[in-house]
Amino acid sequence: MRKVTAIAPANIAFIKYWGRKDEKLRLPANNSLAMNLSNVFTITTVEFLENLKQDQIKMAGEKLDDKSKKRIVDHLERIRNLANIKVHARVVTKNNFPKGTGIASSASGFAALTLAASKSAGLNLSEKELSIIARQGSGSACRSIPDGFTEWIAGNSSETSFAHSIFPANWWKICDITVLISKTSKKVSSSEGHDLAESSPFYPVRIADMENKVSEIKIAIKGKNFEKFGEILEEEAINMHAVMMTSRPAILYWLPKTLELILLIREWRSNNLPIFFTIDAGPSVHLICEKENEMKVTQMLSKSGFKDFIVNNPSSGAKLVDDNLF
Ligand code: PMV
Repeated sequence: MRKVTAIAPANIAFIKYWGRKDEKLRLPANNSLAMNLSNVFTITTVEFLENLKQDQIKMAGEKLDDKSKKRIVDHLERIRNLANIKVHARVVTKNNFPKGTGIASSASGFAALTLAASKSAGLNLSEKELSIIARQGSGSACRSIPDGFTEWIAGNSSETSFAHSIFPANWWKICDITVLISKTSKKVSSSEGHDLAESSPFYPVRIADMENKVSEIKIAIKGKNFEKFGEILEEEAINMHAVMMTSRPAILYWLPKTLELILLIREWRSNNLPIFFTIDAGPSVHLICEKENEMKVTQMLSKSGFKDFIVNNPSSGAKLVDDNLF
């Protein structure tokens, strides 16, 4: 057993995972499709040590609450069971972005933890196996394992629910400009949100259309048809938030600035700037544009008072690195 460090990107879903058919196994109600992000990531070092009485978990620059710690310990337990070991681990993890801002820190976090911990425990897992395990820590984490543009196949058992790469990172020069709207943590976690999804009267209507949406967006990405891709992307984000807003109790992730930016994007688009948005479970807005328009968009953002943003290109998935955090 050795000390191992892994890095994994966050990912932005173009077709979202919201609601699941098996809560415990984290089997989603539908396939989802995402792109890994080059500039928002988690680095995690893991070492299993004979002399530890319990797992020691630290997050650089942040205090981990008991619930998050327990989720990490449960994940280590999955890996211990697979490797047939009983030893506890020391884990140090570091995000390069703030928590709870609509960037899915659990995705990059559980992807990096899965790769680092499994290697450290002496396992040599395939990409598919890593994705299956990452999924059990946080659903969207399974999409941060493979490279580039990924699809998570919902499946109907733990072994059949995993993500794979559908296009490499260099397939399409598009970017995600993530505009941070608020740095305070969201009040309803995505885990709680998934459980509430079914209570929305619009949920069955949403789910009935997902297969169609996934295949349409795949065709648009394959053909690099940005307009069609953008239309589906934006419609999908609004659709998911409509389900969130109409669940019982209602979940409102948008803040006034979120809506202000949505309206601005529409205005820029009507002035011939091809730009679209998507939003995850938080107030941050992900602006999606072609790389050639990146400068124009960042200038417009700054001019409009939105100065806190991160530009992301499509990225590879989780990988091992040499620099250990301890
Ligand atoms: O993996 P979770 O439980 O954090 O859920 C992610 C939910 C969304 O970000 C809103 C959508 C998605 O597919 O990433």
